[in-house]
Amino acid sequence: MSDSTIIGREIRLVSRPVGEPGPENFEVVEVAVPQPARGQILVRNTWMSVDPYMRGRMDDVESYMPPFQLGVVMDGSAVGEVVASGVAEIPVGATVSHFQGWREYVVLNAAEAIVVDTTIARPQDYLGALGTTGLTAYLAVTEIAPVRQGDTVFVSAAAGAVGSVAGQLARKFGAARVIGSAGGPQKGRKLVEDFGFDAAVDYRAGSLTEQLATVAPEGIDVYVDNVGGDHLEAALDAMRVHGRVALVGMISGYNATEPVPGPGNIYVAATKRLTLRGVLVSDHLHRFGEYIGDAAGWLADGTLHTEETVVEGIERAPEAFLGVLRGANTGKMLVRLAS
Ligand SMILES: NC(=O)c1ccc[n+]([C@@H]2O[C@H](COP(=O)([O-])OP(=O)(O)OC[C@H]3O[C@@H](n4cnc5c(N)ncnc54)[C@H](OP(=O)(O)O)[C@@H]3O)[C@@H](O)[C@H]2O)c1
Repeated sequence: MSDSTIIGREIRLVSRPVGEPGPENFEVVEVAVPQPARGQILVRNTWMSVDPYMRGRMDDVESYMPPFQLGVVMDGSAVGEVVASGVAEIPVGATVSHFQGWREYVVLNAAEAIVVDTTIARPQDYLGALGTTGLTAYLAVTEIAPVRQGDTVFVSAAAGAVGSVAGQLARKFGAARVIGSAGGPQKGRKLVEDFGFDAAVDYRAGSLTEQLATVAPEGIDVYVDNVGGDHLEAALDAMRVHGRVALVGMISGYNATEPVPGPGNIYVAATKRLTLRGVLVSDHLHRFGEYIGDAAGWLADGTLHTEETVVEGIERAPEAFLGVLRGANTGKMLVRLAS
C-alpha cells in the first residue's frame, strides 16, 4: 500500500498542571496519516470521550493508568469509521470503538478495535451509556453496593455520565427513593424532571448533611460516590445501619495540590457496620457483552434516559475536558470530531 497524503490533527500534552489544568497544557498538531498495512485498519474518529480520570494522567505519577507523556499524543476512548482496511473481518464503513482518541485519524491493529453494532444504538452511545461510564454505573448498583428492593439510594455528580445512569438503574433494580446531588438548581430540576430522581440536593446551596436529612429523613441504604470529600462525609452521616457505599470516584479532589484528608466521620463505618467498596471498571470489561445486551434494550424502550453535552471539533477537545472537571456537562461530555 502506498503512503497517504491524509493530514490529521491530534492533541498533545505539552505541560503538566499544578492544580486546575488550563488550555496552555495542550497543543493541536497536524500529522501525516499512514495507510494501514495488512492486519491493520485506518479509522477516522467521529466521537471521542473526555473523562475525569484523565486529570490524574496529566500528573507524572504511576497509577492504574500510565501518565500521559509530554509532547506525545494523548489517548482515551473513541469511536470511528473504518476508511481503509487490511483486515477481512473489519470492512470499510464499519464503526469501531477503541482507545486512541484525542486524534482525528488512527491506524490500528485489528486486535485494538471492537466493531460496534450501530443497529441497536448510536455510535456515541458506546462512549456513554453503553461504554465504560454506563458499565461503571451498572456495576456500582448491582455488584459493588447492590441495591435492594425498597432502598433509599443517594448518587453524587448525579447529572453526569455515571451518576445519571446509576440513579436510573438503582430505580430499575428496586430502589424506592433515589436522590441525586448536582451543582446548581438547573441540574437539580433536570434530575427530577428528566432523569426520574425523587429529589435533588444542590451542594453549592448549603450543608449537604442538612439537605440530606430533609430529603431522606429515614437515612440512605446505598451511596454511589462519584465526588468524595464533603459528599462522602455527608453520606456517611446519613447512612443507615448495614448501608453500602460504592467508591466510584472522588472528583472533588482531582485538582488538589495537597493531600486530601479523609472524611472526619469515617468511624461511623464501624458503628453502622457499613460496607465501603471501591471499583475500577477496567477489572470488569468482560461484563460488557451482558451489559450492552440489556442496556441497549433499555435505551430502545426509553426506560434509560441519556443526555450528552457535545463540543465540536478536535481543537476544542481540551475545552471539553476542562469543562467536565468544572461541571459544564449534563450527561456524557463528548467531542464530535466528524459526522
Ligand atoms: N471507578 C471507575 O472505574 C470509574 C469509571 C468512570 C468514572 N469514574 C468516576 O466517576 C465520577 C464521574 O465520572 P463521569 O465520567 O460520569 O463524569 P461526569 O459526572 O459526567 O462529570 C463530572 C461531574 O463532576 C461534578 N463535579 C466536579 N467537581 C465537583 C465537586 N468539587 N463537587 C461535586 N461535584 C463535582 C460536575 O457536576 P456538577 O455540575 O454537578 O458539579 C461534573 O459534571 C468521577 O469521579 C470519575 O473519576 C470512575
